[in-house]
Amino acid sequence: MDLTAYERRLSRPTRIKLPEFQRNGRLKHVIFADQFDRPMLENLDTLSNMVRELARDRETQLFLRDLLPHKRAMLYFTQASTRTFLSFTAACQLLGMPIAEIRDPSVSSEYKGESPFDSMRMFSSYFDLVVMRTAAAGFAEACAYLMNDLDEFNERHVPVVNGGSGADEHPTQALLDIHTIQRCFEFASERDSSKRTRFDDYRKTYPDLTRGLDSKVYGFCGDIGRGRTVHSLATLLALYSDVQMHFVSPPDDRMRLPGPMRESLSAKGVKVFEHDSLADIVENVDLLYMTRIQWEHDKDNSGRSGPAAVDPNFVLTPELADRMKSYAPILHPFPRNAEIPFEVDHNSRAMYFREARNGMWVRAALLAHLFDVDGLIVSHHREVFSHYHDYNTGSK
Ligand code: CP
Repeated sequence: MDLTAYERRLSRPTRIKLPEFQRNGRLKHVIFADQFDRPMLENLDTLSNMVRELARDRETQLFLRDLLPHKRAMLYFTQASTRTFLSFTAACQLLGMPIAEIRDPSVSSEYKGESPFDSMRMFSSYFDLVVMRTAAAGFAEACAYLMNDLDEFNERHVPVVNGGSGADEHPTQALLDIHTIQRCFEFASERDSSKRTRFDDYRKTYPDLTRGLDSKVYGFCGDIGRGRTVHSLATLLALYSDVQMHFVSPPDDRMRLPGPMRESLSAKGVKVFEHDSLADIVENVDLLYMTRIQWEHDKDNSGRSGPAAVDPNFVLTPELADRMKSYAPILHPFPRNAEIPFEVDHNSRAMYFREARNGMWVRAALLAHLFDVDGLIVSHHREVFSHYHDYNTGSK
């Protein structure tokens, strides 16, 4: 991928770039996790829950489907994906957006030598949004600059959403991870009553436990160096106060916590620790984020079954999972390899399938924000659910 024309803009510090991905205080493109602050995350969390509730029955699902039938989405996924591709597909379908896809550039005119930037310009001619997954770090960002340049020349331009770029960023995965964590750390259950809640039960064993994402110990295990989901999620978790992060990775410089990331997290007040065995942290963490070894970044894929991929120090066995705090969720962006055996799936802490499903609601909420129909969802939700009884407080 030749990014020479964008090199100067790509090499700037992220904070200088951020205004270029916004419009009128809202998102114009979604490229970095750094574009989000806590109020935005809280709004997206609320909106995602509303989409989830409105999608439950036919009538309210038809309301959602009537929001964006006049907008079309292009899913340009030239690197392998199951969840991101399908959950964006489902999110578009929820909002009524027709979609088209290119997943294999050898069946597009890129095979004949067309530049991927010309491809992007073609997509923006036919569609109203491009969601992209690419192996090339910086390409999604460069595409956003291409669209901004077209905007300057009053040419047709569309929002670009980064669905995973190289080993650097996967911001929409981080959004669905934060949403999943928010739901877990509400400690709410339909079985709760005003007299007894799940949170009260946990507090009997863990008296210091608080609701929410502040004051938590977060554990990450696996290929930290090349795990783009870890990079984006750690960036968002650093927005919360009194946070510790423990990173467990194989003793290989490619897989360890990158120095600039450690510095950036520490500068934001995060207490950062590094370990070489999962067993060192399982009992201490409030949440464990497992990842696989990202062997596809090796030129010869040698890491696929290499020593790190089979090292028991980075495997969450059922025994280790049972040693975790009883409320501590286990997340994994998936795909998984051997780092979480199937037996762990039945552990009540295993949240990774719910996490993947949450991607559909969060991505629908994000699309609603990008196309300014989020306000319509909020008012319709209020109309439909205003008469519902709050089972916790006994009030309306
Ligand atoms: N989590 C995630 O990005 O999965 P896919 O690679 O299957 O999209």
